Amino acid sequence: MKAFTKTRYGGPEILHLDEVEKPTLKDHRILVKVKANSANPADWHILRGKPFIARFSFGLLKPKSQHKILGADFAGVVEEVGNHVTHFKIGDRVFGETLKGGAFAEYTCVPANVCGIIPEGFEFPEMACTPIAGITALQALKTHGKLKEGESVLINGSSGGVGHFAVQIARAYGAKVTAVCSSKNKDFVMGLGADEVIAYDKENIHKHNRKYDLIVDTNGNLFLEDFERMGKRGVLIGFTSLKHMVWLLIKAGFSKFPLAQFTAEANTKDLETIAALIQSRKIRVHIDKTYPYHKIPEAIGYIEAMRTRGKVAMVWESIEGTEGAN
Ligand SMILES: NC(=O)c1ccc[n+]([C@@H]2O[C@H](COP(=O)([O-])OP(=O)(O)OC[C@H]3O[C@@H](n4cnc5c(N)ncnc54)[C@H](OP(=O)(O)O)[C@@H]3O)[C@@H](O)[C@H]2O)c1
Repeated sequence: MKAFTKTRYGGPEILHLDEVEKPTLKDHRILVKVKANSANPADWHILRGKPFIARFSFGLLKPKSQHKILGADFAGVVEEVGNHVTHFKIGDRVFGETLKGGAFAEYTCVPANVCGIIPEGFEFPEMACTPIAGITALQALKTHGKLKEGESVLINGSSGGVGHFAVQIARAYGAKVTAVCSSKNKDFVMGLGADEVIAYDKENIHKHNRKYDLIVDTNGNLFLEDFERMGKRGVLIGFTSLKHMVWLLIKAGFSKFPLAQFTAEANTKDLETIAALIQSRKIRVHIDKTYPYHKIPEAIGYIEAMRTRGKVAMVWESIEGTEGAN
């Protein structure tokens, strides 16, 4: 099968489209014929081996052989089902994430519990865009942020993959949403349902003085003083530098402010919660660009600029109505 592999750390140019062995099925896993992927910041972090601390998981000097194939988010069709798998059958349309890699390939073999069923009438590219970003937004707001109906939330970084889901999920759960993004994305974020948008290039967010029940920082540039001034509790998702994040978490550890930081983990229940919100049109996936699979390195290069509006999809075969980016 075809797969994008890496044997050293570096930029998108080191990715090779190789012929590799199709993965073999194991208990508790399903073999999926991949139809579409999406790109996430995690892909280029893993590709570049940055921050360095990530190399303790993925290989110190070069990527470990089990992490040879890049890619986390996928959507496709179940081709084989392992013993003990009860939730899925051959032919099911599924979506999911594999943070250990292996998704940028014609086939991926993944634990069944990191997959969900694609609702009727929804396409592979939009569902491939959903796992990491959607799960992160949901778990930030509900699992860690304990957001309740009627509460106010400020979402810092609201136009990218995670942010555009967070705005819509918060609205779907009945929260009042103030969203922070660049002024070029103001209309886009208002269109997602935000009650109010702050353009960070027009107003200094570090001086914003209103109080919210919850602060969710997808961008990762807020200081502890910002969380304390603006919020009653906070959730940190992204990071602008490891130094900033570590310093923030150390300071938070010595303060009384309830700040949560987490790594999102896919599970069938949360994936199907997101799928239900998509099916009921409470949230929609915005695809900024779609690339054909052979341009996956270009897609990774595009998202590395961190200026994505919504998500970037990659398709493994031409799907009617989907345009490949040139
Ligand atoms: N903790 C976890 O489990 C987890 C999971 C997924 C992602 N993440 C992290 O979360 C972050 C966001 O991921 P993503 O997939 O949403 O990335 P993305 O799609 O690349 O979005 C990045 C967004 O950052 C916004 N941005 C840039 N500068 C900003 C600023 N100064 N203030 C506010 N927003 C700013 C950009 O919006 P504008 O163009 O409007 O500025 C862009 O839309 C990344 O750091 C990623 O590594 C963490």
